[in-house]
Amino acid sequence: MHRDGVLIIDFGGQYTQLIARRVREACVYCEIHPCHDPRIDRTVRAVILSGGPASVAEEGAPRLPAGVVEAGVPVLGICYGLQLLADALGGEVGRSALREYGPARLRVHAASRLLDGFPPESTVWMSHGDSVTALPRGFASVATTTEGSVAVVEDVEGRLFGVQFHPEVVHTEAGTRLFENFLFRIARLPADWSMASFLEETGAALAARVGDRPILCAVSGGVDSTVLARLIARAAPKSLVAVFVDTGLLRKGESDEVSALFADLPFHRIDASARFLARLRGVADPEAKRRAIGDEFIKVFAEFARSLPGEPFLAQGTLYPDVIESVSVRGPSAVIKTHHNVGGLPKELPFPLIEPFRELFKDEVRALGRLLGVPERVLSRHPFPGPGLAVRILGEVTDEGLAVLRDCDAIFVEGLRASGLYDLVWQAFAVLLPVRSVGVMGDGRTYESVVALRAVTSRDGMTADWARLPHEFLARVSSRIVNEVPRVNRVVYDVSSKPPSTIEWE
Ligand code: XMP
Repeated sequence: MHRDGVLIIDFGGQYTQLIARRVREACVYCEIHPCHDPRIDRTVRAVILSGGPASVAEEGAPRLPAGVVEAGVPVLGICYGLQLLADALGGEVGRSALREYGPARLRVHAASRLLDGFPPESTVWMSHGDSVTALPRGFASVATTTEGSVAVVEDVEGRLFGVQFHPEVVHTEAGTRLFENFLFRIARLPADWSMASFLEETGAALAARVGDRPILCAVSGGVDSTVLARLIARAAPKSLVAVFVDTGLLRKGESDEVSALFADLPFHRIDASARFLARLRGVADPEAKRRAIGDEFIKVFAEFARSLPGEPFLAQGTLYPDVIESVSVRGPSAVIKTHHNVGGLPKELPFPLIEPFRELFKDEVRALGRLLGVPERVLSRHPFPGPGLAVRILGEVTDEGLAVLRDCDAIFVEGLRASGLYDLVWQAFAVLLPVRSVGVMGDGRTYESVVALRAVTSRDGMTADWARLPHEFLARVSSRIVNEVPRVNRVVYDVSSKPPSTIEWE
């Protein structure tokens, strides 16, 4: 590893990155390595084995890599990690009589340094079909679920631990405590890592990789690309070429706001709205829209890049949730959804990519932005999808639809800001539905568009709940929209959570 810390070995669990995040929140350095190449060396001071979708008995299932137990450092196996450890050390793992998904009650029945400070009973998050049915020699069970399945085990030396639940998931009440116990009381690691160290290390690596070559950085005014441009401006100032493509799919006033934000940097604004709109004509399928936009984006870039001297890199503010929802890494995390930015880009990119935030969550990027002096208003801005309003106009994107949606969205979002509600939600926006409904205005019957308002609360965009906005507020927004925006006679509020719905409507 780059420095002493925790090695997280990834067996393809959907929460692996959350483990890294918990470790980083405890200010301890960690790296995630794939299970087929864990690279265990002297810098590894503790190992965490992630969960994963396989069954240990299955043919081709990932094995416990050689050297994990032999390294002599504390090991924490989580879910599949526990099962691997048990299997490798002579225990037994079998199909559970009871498959547990979701919350379960954990009952502690023996003293354990790992569970130090745990209440006798607490809620934990389970997601497993297999269980440890016989412990390896020298291991003891220190906690079970109220259903009776093995939940926490440790060896007599107090070095090897396994938990069947997911301490990294927020629904596990004492999860943070468990990580603190493992990192500080058991592995005795120092809490000496911070976003400032991430900034220094990532900046240095970036500068070393690019040398004098230009870095094209697509900025959108969003948190990720703004922080990215500032990071590059600091780490490789001579290389930065910030490019803003006005796709014509942006919100009201956004194009000018973005330009103002980068006035002090080498910044190019490309008005490509006519191209994008022409390309989207007649395209109604959401994935086709995303592909068309991603494709056009790259073309615009390629044309611009040709005008630059030297062979440029392309910097992207790809975050971990984009990666996990888009990529099927062989072995690692299974595909949940394919439609995000990353998935939407053509496979053959003509530029080498720089993606320093691939392992970060949104709030970590915000923390980084604060260190880089990015204004708070930008850092607290809601995420906005790359394909922009195109995925909020269901069906074909038209000029008229864009104009209507822009006005509705502005009324909603400005209203949230004015009422002090903006920062309480993760994301809020309007969606133009492809239906018409009957209304009455004045003495006449109308047959006009329906707009849905969507506001969600979320920690990281991976799960979300609909925001309980005050009815009075919704009433005001609804009446302003219907009164001020021509062609809209009905406003509805989306009360779905993710899952099963997604945040965006397309
Ligand atoms: P969903 O709709 O998948 O959205 O629940 C999760 C988060 O991702 C954003 N999103 C996108 N971002 N390109 C992007 O850059 C996309 O195609 C895209 N689709 C969804 C969404 O706004 C939310 O923050």
